[in-house]
Amino acid sequence: MRAADVAGRRVLVRADLNVPLEEGGVADDTRIRAALPTLELLRDRGAGAITVCSHLGRPKGPDPAYAIAPVEARLTELFDGELTVLENTRFDPGEMTNDPAFAARLADAQDVFVEDAFGSVHRAHASTVGVAEQLPAYAGLLLERELEELGKLLGEVERPFVLVSGGAKVDDKLGVLRKLGGRADAVLVGGKMAEQLRESDGLPFPVDLPTDVVAAAEFAESAESRVVPYDAVQAGWLGLDIGPDTRAAFARRIEPARTIFWNGPMGVFEWPAFAEGTRAVAQAVAKSQGYSVVGGADSIRALTELGLVDRVDWASTGGGAALELLEGKELPGVAVIPPE
Ligand code: 3PG
Ligand code: MG
Repeated sequence: MRAADVAGRRVLVRADLNVPLEEGGVADDTRIRAALPTLELLRDRGAGAITVCSHLGRPKGPDPAYAIAPVEARLTELFDGELTVLENTRFDPGEMTNDPAFAARLADAQDVFVEDAFGSVHRAHASTVGVAEQLPAYAGLLLERELEELGKLLGEVERPFVLVSGGAKVDDKLGVLRKLGGRADAVLVGGKMAEQLRESDGLPFPVDLPTDVVAAAEFAESAESRVVPYDAVQAGWLGLDIGPDTRAAFARRIEPARTIFWNGPMGVFEWPAFAEGTRAVAQAVAKSQGYSVVGGADSIRALTELGLVDRVDWASTGGGAALELLEGKELPGVAVIPPE
């Protein structure tokens, strides 16, 4: 993008503004802030008009709960200049099918496309791939930086290399972990993913799973809860965090690591009663002297809330995208950008 002549030209930027939401507002604006350098560079280079687009959540069609408005409000507050923010790209049925007609509507009245949505480049969607085929396309500053920082985890790394995984989107992540985990010296898994792993065939290498969990009587912030062995959760109760023995065991693995990649919280960290597991992992990662990379909107939110985000070497805006990059997969939203 540094080489692109944008003066007076209309630029469409695909950012990943898929931020965690809470009570209709932005719960963590890290991804919005991460989009700013590219937008500021375009402004300073005299772009004629800047338009930003992103998906938000996983709506099934237009849904007011996923309207881009609160994200747009935060972005326009943080950005000093003029820009237009398009509505959630996933409100259009052509987005996820990479429909050329939707890509053409996105490209319409634009001169240049800038791909800066690192968190979404593992998706071959209209706004990440289709539109890039219809306009001169460049990589944005965030995308460049992410590829550079995460690239340090490719190839030979200092050992022990410890991989920590949790969070939602379990089905997306299990396949990746199957491939990526073989490169690590230890694989620690918490959260919902651990439960699913126990039920499935497991993985072709040793995995550290929780030995104890914080079980809750219902899925609620103030639910009655107690610590129990992982296999002693009462019928009808739910494991919403890893327990204290697991926290200690995970920390013992993480602290001496020379290379760490952590993606996904250990429990429902948004609720204080179930936040300790994620806190323990965050603290251990922060304490470690090794090269640490943390990826995914929720893990970054947790680190930020704990005041630890500056203690890791790279806080990646990508969750699934970072995992797929490390797995060695080609990322469609990167592959579509011609080399400069
Ligand atoms: C993410 O949060 O990982 C990205 O924004 C991609 O979202 P998706 O998994 O819904 O495609
Ligand atoms: Mg996410």
